[in-house]
Amino acid sequence: MNPLIEVRDLSYTYRAGTSGGVKALSRVNLEVKHGEFLAITGQNGSGKSTLARHFNGLLTPSEGEVLVEGLSVAERANIPAIRRLVGMVFQNPDNQLISSVVEEDVAFGPENLGLSPFEIRQRVDQAIKILKLENLRFESPNYLSEGQKQLVAIAGVLAMKPSCIVLDEPTAHLDPRGRREVLENIRRLNREEGITIILLTHFMDEAIHCDRMIVMNRGKVEMEGPPAGMFRQRDQILSLGLNFPVAAQLAEGLRLRGIDLPDDIIHPEEIINCLCRLK
Ligand SMILES: Nc1ncnc2c1ncn2[C@@H]1O[C@H](COP(=O)(O)OP(=O)(O)OP(=O)(O)O)[C@@H](O)[C@H]1O
Ligand SMILES: [Mg+2]
Repeated sequence: MNPLIEVRDLSYTYRAGTSGGVKALSRVNLEVKHGEFLAITGQNGSGKSTLARHFNGLLTPSEGEVLVEGLSVAERANIPAIRRLVGMVFQNPDNQLISSVVEEDVAFGPENLGLSPFEIRQRVDQAIKILKLENLRFESPNYLSEGQKQLVAIAGVLAMKPSCIVLDEPTAHLDPRGRREVLENIRRLNREEGITIILLTHFMDEAIHCDRMIVMNRGKVEMEGPPAGMFRQRDQILSLGLNFPVAAQLAEGLRLRGIDLPDDIIHPEEIINCLCRLK
């Protein structure tokens, strides 16, 4: 099957052609497969958001190309189709919620697709059910927790039935519980609904759940691969300004105390299993 998203030699410069031009991406190559859970990480200013904004045509390449299901984001005529395929969720849910009732908010996206009222209702019902928001359906988003608001924003995107959802640091403003809740739902959308997920995050304990992780540095893809192998490359991870998942930190601490543990541990259950075996 063809990739869902293809990025070919993508460069992007903000305020190109002016003295204040900022080259945010340089010659990025990347493919995103259907159904994959991709995490994109990297320190502040490394180009994650700039890259992600090309996936649904919020930005268009300065050089190179970005294709979504073969459609170039540089062609204006392709943008509506591309936005139906790729939905975006941002850091701050307050900027994405507009209605005074949760279900109206979820309906906003599908209403703009020109669907029949019946189809809209079905999609809203389904999105609310998948994200388990039934109890909040008639609430005002203003009275929800930040985590609940983010789930409503995700439901609104889900109701557009995209193939792929791009989430740009969706848990940055959330407390640990909200963060866990949002992450669990994102993982469920990937596993159970088959939605391709692209998660931009600073939290390594979120990134460990992906199939593949990309580390950006100064506008380039610096590392790429399944997360377990990546965190084994300790020096490189540190030099890219990243930290380690909690389980990897704990395993390293135990290794330094002479306990024999594998060097690719990233999930808490892996430590528990190893320690149980060691007794
Ligand atoms: N609207 C803009 N105008 C000019 N420069 C910008 C703009 N947005 C981003 N940049 C610059 O582009 C580079 C990449 O920024 P980008 O926001 O893509 O990074 P990021 O990895 O998402 O960072 P963060 O982790 O802080 O969200 C940075 O040097 C940034 O200052
Ligand atoms: Mg960003």
